[in-house]
Amino acid sequence: MRGALTAFLATLVAGVMAIAYAQDIKSDRSIKYRQGALTTMSWQFGMLGAMAKGERPYNKDEAIKRASYVAELSKLPWEGFGPGTDQGAPTKAKPEVWKEPAKFKDLQDKLMAETAKLEMVAKTGDEAAFKAQVGATGKACGNCHDDFRAK
Ligand code: HEC
Repeated sequence: MRGALTAFLATLVAGVMAIAYAQDIKSDRSIKYRQGALTTMSWQFGMLGAMAKGERPYNKDEAIKRASYVAELSKLPWEGFGPGTDQGAPTKAKPEVWKEPAKFKDLQDKLMAETAKLEMVAKTGDEAAFKAQVGATGKACGNCHDDFRAK
């Protein structure tokens, strides 16, 4: 009997902890996670932007390395926009993220398609094509920010 009660209490405690953990993930940790992922992606993409603009010398190997990072990093932020993460820490995500999930998802897919192409183009070593693809990728960032990120 006592064993059963202990087992029951242990289950209950585990359940409560799981709920607390889920709520924890939902708000401030998710927001910090997605902002960190976006900031990291932006750092790497910014280096490629500088290269495309001639502010940094074009270097094929560096372009390949950073473009492959950006292609991977562009997959990461989105799991940080789960249900209920519209508040809990300072955020610039607009309510539209949760009101228009299909459109938001479509813009993520477009970014990932552009960053995959960016990596491919970087590998060809074609500088002009690389510059054009940096521009196309930057547009995919802006298209989403226009509607889903507050100024
Ligand atoms: C599918 C939509 C979407 C795409 C595509 C997108 N972003 Fe964002 N971005 C957001 C949203 C929403 C926020 C606001 C996040 C928040 O504050 O919680 C944001 C925030 C940011 C931030 C600020 C992070 C912080 O610390 O507050 C940076 C930097 C950023 N994005 C860079 C980029 C770059 C660079 C690209 C393209 C390579 C890009 N984003 C593509 C939606 C997008």
